[in-house]
Amino acid sequence: MKNDVIIALDFPTREETLTFLDQFPDSEKPFVKIGMELFYAEGPQIVRDLKACGHKIFLDLKLHDIPNTVKRAMAVLARLDVDMVNLHAAGTSSMMKAALEGLTRPDGTRPMLIAVTQLTSTAPETLKKELLIDTPMPETVLAYAKNAAASGLDGVVCSPLEAALVKKSCGENFCTVTPGVRFAGGDAGDQKRVMTPEQAARNGCDCIVIGRPVTQAEDPVAAYRRAVKEFLG
Ligand code: C5P
Repeated sequence: MKNDVIIALDFPTREETLTFLDQFPDSEKPFVKIGMELFYAEGPQIVRDLKACGHKIFLDLKLHDIPNTVKRAMAVLARLDVDMVNLHAAGTSSMMKAALEGLTRPDGTRPMLIAVTQLTSTAPETLKKELLIDTPMPETVLAYAKNAAASGLDGVVCSPLEAALVKKSCGENFCTVTPGVRFAGGDAGDQKRVMTPEQAARNGCDCIVIGRPVTQAEDPVAAYRRAVKEFLG
């Protein structure tokens, strides 16, 4: 699962999603991320359909609830045959362990499970003011990543800027999945802390998630290939 470029399919409908994916040749099936917008609009069938087309799928629903509820929800997601799912590390290690149990299929296989540490949209001052966390952002992210690793999870979603720190502390095999990727000179949009695919690779990111620089490009297939080339070298 390492070293992948994942396209964020942030589209409101199935039609727009398929129109976008139809631009790729049959021989090229990018790893895609289905988030809340598309999943809530189209339901689990969109996951089954894209899987049937040959795409690997990261289902980005960021679960966060009591352990029993998350465990049961994860069992449902495992049956959808996705490749990667996530939850909030803030749900604590008992929730993360329950999630892993729910996700593990009767034959022992399961999708990768990664944890959101702190959302990249949360500013350091908000951490203190609203979440009442006095520990600085990098240490907080690292502590959450360590909880995730100790709970048996496969990795975390973090900013490319924190990936190196997480890898150093949680080990080479602990996966870092990072959004906030932009081409050099590209429009950052609402992302505050961005890196190019090449910088992300150098900073220890295993998978990058890239949305608008590919989906809104004049030639999305060329933009995707550029991201793959820059990230994988
Ligand atoms: O268009 P862009 O490349 O900014 O898309 C990034 C994707 O990664 C979006 O789907 C966004 O929801 C997701 N994401 C993020 N930051 C996080 C977690 C997920 O940008 N911390």
